[in-house]
Amino acid sequence: MEKEKDSNYLQLGRVVFYGRMLSEYEQMFNLNISLYKQYKILDCPAGPSSFVAEASRLGINVVGCDPLFGRPVKELVNRAREDLELVLDRISAVSQLYNWDFYKSTEGLRRYRELALQLFESDYCAGLLEKRYLKGELPKLPFQDDSFSLVLSGNLLFYYSDEFDYLFHRDSILEMLRISKEARIYPTQGPYNRPWKYFDKLLYDLKKESIKAQVITVTHDFQRGVNKMLLVTR
Ligand SMILES: C[S@@+](CC[C@H](N)C(=O)[O-])C[C@H]1O[C@@H](n2cnc3c(N)ncnc32)[C@H](O)[C@@H]1O
Repeated sequence: MEKEKDSNYLQLGRVVFYGRMLSEYEQMFNLNISLYKQYKILDCPAGPSSFVAEASRLGINVVGCDPLFGRPVKELVNRAREDLELVLDRISAVSQLYNWDFYKSTEGLRRYRELALQLFESDYCAGLLEKRYLKGELPKLPFQDDSFSLVLSGNLLFYYSDEFDYLFHRDSILEMLRISKEARIYPTQGPYNRPWKYFDKLLYDLKKESIKAQVITVTHDFQRGVNKMLLVTR
């Protein structure tokens, strides 16, 4: 697939191993985590986010899944640090595309990412043993049907649609709804802050499978205009 070259847009060039905090997940997914004590939640892709660590501490049954899980903690932390520098560098080059009300500055953003990474790092080894962190790669996940009540999928589908084709997106959503009755996917926009060109086709194909889909505006609006999630249920 030909990639757009435009210095007015964030250019990462690869899917980064980059993770957010629970408070950011609440914003991205319109979630009040205190209402989810009885739920079993899958975070996929989890990356080096602290959602699993923080939600587990709150007594929530939560599993994180990522293709890189299972590797040694040091390797993951090094990769996350390298990708953090890449993202901060690229964001600094196009900082006008971002709304800084929440993080205030790239240093503020760095503090959030480093805190997420510290929490991830301190939970990861115990979490691997307890099977709260599992290796898995969309569009096929290593879980039985109806294993979860909610799947959260942040910053992979749509956002990296330069890297993944239409069928990857459709099959990944069908897979999320095989293992759970509900999935929330953030954001809905493709790269370059533009709508993903297959979005309407996707909604049409999901409807044919009797899947309900709703686009919901959320409070997470760091990248200007990137403030919508897709809620799908069966
Ligand atoms: C930008 S991180 C998002 C992490 C987290 N959801 C967040 O929003 O902070 C993207 C993650 O997707 C993972 N990834 C890449 N390809 C994947 C695939 N086919 N299935 C699941 N995860 C994948 C990467 O390893 C990386 O950790």
